[in-house]
Amino acid sequence: LPMTTQIDAVAGIDYRLVAPPITTAENLDGQLKGEFFSQAHRSPPPFTPPAMAFPEDHDRMVYLGISDYFFNTAGLVYQEAGALKLTLQDHMMPNGSKFLLTTKSLGNVLPQVTKMFPNMKVQLQVSVSTPPQLNTQPTGLTLTPKLEVQAFVVLPNSSLVPLFLLSMDKMVGTRPCQPLPRAEKLKTAFPLPMPARVQLYNLLLQSHQNFLQIGADVNLM
Ligand SMILES: *[C@@H]1O[C@H](CO)[C@@H](O)[C@H](O)[C@H]1NC(C)=O
Ligand SMILES: *[C@@H]1O[C@H](CO)[C@@H](O)[C@H](O)[C@H]1NC(C)=O
Repeated sequence: LPMTTQIDAVAGIDYRLVAPPITTAENLDGQLKGEFFSQAHRSPPPFTPPAMAFPEDHDRMVYLGISDYFFNTAGLVYQEAGALKLTLQDHMMPNGSKFLLTTKSLGNVLPQVTKMFPNMKVQLQVSVSTPPQLNTQPTGLTLTPKLEVQAFVVLPNSSLVPLFLLSMDKMVGTRPCQPLPRAEKLKTAFPLPMPARVQLYNLLLQSHQNFLQIGADVNLM
């Protein structure tokens, strides 16, 4: 099993065993750390992993529980690295959009802007101002990022003039996860700590208190 994996220039994942694996006649339990860390300067996150109570049913051969801690350390590392940012420019607006990123369009709400900066483009920088927080419950997931939108006027020489800053709290929720019909649907963006030459099938994804559980059957290739 890998101990750490590098994801990109920003982050790595620490998968080390935190306790010796426990073997019984029927199963093998391993506890892995599951923590994103900054490649630039690793420091302990200001929160601790939650307790995870696995359900008793065992219809699949392997189960992997991924706690909120895993996703929240990811959010923390990427937010602190300034990676959770997006710049919106006028040419990126969909065709036929009523709202254009121009001072003329903005003038409907802020008339002074049109007066001071007639016929210029506006640029919006959307960023996550606090680390996004994922909360997993049996009823589903909630993600609570705090978004900041900074608006700029783009002068003819491309210089940016700050206009205003909007702060918004946004809540994103999903319904509880359903069993996955096909393995191809689970295209995770991060590598799971799996030994080589192991193939998973009959995947099942469920949300429990503070963790997601993936169940699967295994083929050795
Ligand atoms: C908008 O229309 C232009 C010109 O018709 C086209 O080149 C462009 O791809 C379209 N953009 C989008 C996002 O549909
Ligand atoms: C761009 O134009 C503005 C206003 O004319 C001026 O204040 C600014 O210094 C210019 N910036 C550059 C990089 O030339």
